[in-house]
Amino acid sequence: MPRKIAAGNWKMNGQRENLRELQRLEDLHGDADIAILICPPATLISACEDTPFDIGGQDCHSAVSGAHTGDVSADMLADAGASYVLTGHSERRTDHGETDALVAAKSVAAIDAGLIAVICIGETLDERESGKTLNVIDTQLAGSLPDSANAQDCVIAYEPVWAIGTGKVPTLEQIAEVHAHIRARLNARFEDGDEFSLLYGGSVKGSNAAEIFGVANVDGALVGGASLKAKDFSPIITALERA
Ligand code: 13P
Repeated sequence: MPRKIAAGNWKMNGQRENLRELQRLEDLHGDADIAILICPPATLISACEDTPFDIGGQDCHSAVSGAHTGDVSADMLADAGASYVLTGHSERRTDHGETDALVAAKSVAAIDAGLIAVICIGETLDERESGKTLNVIDTQLAGSLPDSANAQDCVIAYEPVWAIGTGKVPTLEQIAEVHAHIRARLNARFEDGDEFSLLYGGSVKGSNAAEIFGVANVDGALVGGASLKAKDFSPIITALERA
């Protein structure tokens, strides 16, 4: 069985005072038997060392070290206490022009550093409306997911770009179609394709989490806005525990 993961991506939000939200979350879910992953800004990773939750970076460089001003390597994230890192988030692909090849290189660097890479893929609204969703997923999966990956060191997050931060969520049928497609592609390529955790991301909230987690091949969520406050993230975690 793929592991269930409730993941929160804080994006460029959060300072030390916001770590009290993790304490609140620990009071509620400190002994959860699913994986709870928090990806705070890199500046807060080492300050999270006492939390029982898994901690992840939001990006890493593809190199181990070197002359890359402003960048953070996967080894540095691991050294700071991270065990996961997001790669290829659509905001990185858009804001920083990240290509599938770069995302694959970053994912290899993450795995080499002992991190679990959460590789993000998803179509834009234009791509969905012109019927290209599954083609885009195929291209991104083929290009971003390294051949050396396996289910222990990689997670796939399907995040339709048009659903991120918009309050718009695909229908359950649309989520089911894409997740089944990803599963089939993983099974065709990897012996342990059935074991990869597949997360859905894009406007997940307490009010829609349970129905999303009821969709086949959805093993968890990658949550943005609703992960910032314990009171908003907690019902999502509870829904995943019950799924
Ligand atoms: P929202 O949950 O705010 O839509 O963000 C999703 C996301 O981008 C998580 O990586």
